[in-house]
Amino acid sequence: MASKRIVVGNMKMNLTAQEINKYLKVIEKKEYNNQVIFCPSSLYLPYFVGKTYGVGIQNIAAYENGAYTGEISALQAKSMHLDCTLIGHSERREYFKETDEVVRQKIKLSLQANLKVILCIGETEEERDSLKTYKVLKKQIVNALKGFEEKELKKIIIAYEPIWAIGTGKTPSNEEIKDTISFIKDIVKDSLHINMSVLYGGSVNEKNIASLNQIENIDGYLVGGASTKADKFMKIIEVVVNQ
Ligand code: PGA
Repeated sequence: MASKRIVVGNMKMNLTAQEINKYLKVIEKKEYNNQVIFCPSSLYLPYFVGKTYGVGIQNIAAYENGAYTGEISALQAKSMHLDCTLIGHSERREYFKETDEVVRQKIKLSLQANLKVILCIGETEEERDSLKTYKVLKKQIVNALKGFEEKELKKIIIAYEPIWAIGTGKTPSNEEIKDTISFIKDIVKDSLHINMSVLYGGSVNEKNIASLNQIENIDGYLVGGASTKADKFMKIIEVVVNQ
């Protein structure tokens, strides 16, 4: 592995302002050396900027600017000094009907704004059971990333999140995660001719992180539920940062 493993916290639509204040007090006791990225609700992003960790937004608009009530553009995110954006999280694909085309458009706008991208991909339980995982992942990767130049692709990392593992307490075996990450890296290398970092996400917690961290080709983790509890998230970070 070329660089240090990273930990990204996707806090989703959780925590009130009062809870965020307490959260910040806990996380601010530590230096992070940019190995950790916090993705809180957009409202709280300014509280997280300018520290020793990175900050990401959970989603950006598929439009550049203008009359799109309630949306936040990539350019606005960049102008608030954010480092990156999640794109294509399965919850966005499922509940907000984001297609591969929308995902690609969001990546394009993020790169134009000089915002790094964490592209989320993953298969459903049904796709896994019918042995379609690799086919689904390949389609998501190729559709999202085709046509970008090498210098643009270098600003993208992939988060592999099996949908059936998100928020369920279930994870694939370490062997399966390793094989799937290898497959993703090979697809990217073969079709786009670059090496891309791949994170794992889906029920990562303070109990399984030491075991997951044995997987040799993993470049880090996207943590959902466990990132909303500062003490649990700190335990995960410690395992990864101190390895
Ligand atoms: P989880 O969520 O850690 O709660 O499974 C991961 C994610 O959705 O990014």
